[in-house]
Amino acid sequence: MKRENWQSRQVAIGDARYPYYFGHDCADRIASELGRYDADRFLVVTDDTVLGLHGQTLLTELAAYAPVEVLTRPPGESMKSLSTLSSLLDRAIGAGASRRSVVVAFGGGVPGNLAGLLAGLLFRGVRLVHVPTTTVAAMDSTLSLKQAVNSAHGKNHIGMYHTPDAVFTDVRFLQTLPDRELRSGLCEATKNCLAIRPGSAPELRRVLTEGRLASPESLLWLLEESLTAKEQATVGDTKEQASGLVLEYGHTVGHAVELCDQRLGGAAPVSHGEAIAFGMLAAARMSAAIGGLGAEEVALHDELVHALGAPTRLPPGLRVEDVMSVVRVDNKRGYLRIAEHEAAVVLLEELGVPFGSRDCPLTAVDLDLVEEVLNGLSDPDQHRQHTALSGEALDVMV
Ligand SMILES: NC(=O)c1ccc[n+]([C@@H]2O[C@H](COP(=O)([O-])OP(=O)(O)OC[C@H]3O[C@@H](n4cnc5c(N)ncnc54)[C@H](O)[C@@H]3O)[C@@H](O)[C@H]2O)c1
Repeated sequence: MKRENWQSRQVAIGDARYPYYFGHDCADRIASELGRYDADRFLVVTDDTVLGLHGQTLLTELAAYAPVEVLTRPPGESMKSLSTLSSLLDRAIGAGASRRSVVVAFGGGVPGNLAGLLAGLLFRGVRLVHVPTTTVAAMDSTLSLKQAVNSAHGKNHIGMYHTPDAVFTDVRFLQTLPDRELRSGLCEATKNCLAIRPGSAPELRRVLTEGRLASPESLLWLLEESLTAKEQATVGDTKEQASGLVLEYGHTVGHAVELCDQRLGGAAPVSHGEAIAFGMLAAARMSAAIGGLGAEEVALHDELVHALGAPTRLPPGLRVEDVMSVVRVDNKRGYLRIAEHEAAVVLLEELGVPFGSRDCPLTAVDLDLVEEVLNGLSDPDQHRQHTALSGEALDVMV
């Protein structure tokens, strides 16, 4: 018998509200719900991988309700560009898109962000529906109003806030994700647990370690947890620039590690989720150093990050000084008045309780502490080598 398990929740981000429907093996239900939108056309933004794996399942059903225009590109971050956006907008308009059309973001965070911006711009805003197929998209990016593409200078530089009309997740789509991709999205779920909902830690530990991560039950539980945590964090904060900043836990060091690793251009780059997971290890140690978390709570971070399969040491090839140069210009500086030698970081007084105020859960941390923590999280050999090298460089300078 088909186990549909259809559920719905209301997402509330500041003043914005939209329904989030989810279940297992429910693509036909998703299509019939979309049929109620009375669209003259569905503009489906996706990538070639998702289209190949799941296109048939959803799009055939959808075509029963309105013509479907598929706007697809090869997968990957390179899709999030102004040139792709511009050519997809032209394709959509050329295909007869109107104000009654509905943009369907079908895929991970990349097609999701691109579709969000496309929907926001087309005729100054048309309806947007997300059908996420990655854990990152289902549990993170669709629980946000932020839509963006990348500029030549960096990630998410060109964007806007555009509220989706609804999100529809069939966790069966998530079951074809490669294991690493699946876990990458769960790094943010783990962040939510540690920084917002620590009561869910025992269940999260069980889900991560029992080897049934891709089961419908585990995925549905993780989805519900993500919805609850996000709601707790963003209620009254549409732009995620006040209480929602708690969602940046692990991101100061995490973003810096992600960027430095990308600059190295290795064959198997650290994913966004993995970088954030490592960033949480650093944040936990800083929290402990300023009198917040205790040893047991730091150990819980280590245990969960290890269970995620994310790096627990600074990834090979990365130098503390390079990571520090990015930490120094972190974009959270603007939210808190800090000195030159400090960084604004989300740190925890205890699990689920950030230092600072609800409207500004940030702490000014001395950069020396960040560096000390990073050195402690470096591979000992690598650290020794770097120290020796800096010593040599110093000798030369002297
Ligand atoms: N607030 C926000 O808007 C927000 C939050 C988090 C992440 N993001 C953005 O999301 C992007 C990352 O999202 P992502 O990790 O989903 O990337 P993605 O969309 O590139 O998907 C990752 C890979 O998984 C493949 N894939 C997708 N669904 C699949 C499935 N069901 N089975 C097998 N393979 C599948 C894709 O083809 C791609 O190769 C980044 O650009 C990031 O900036 C935005």
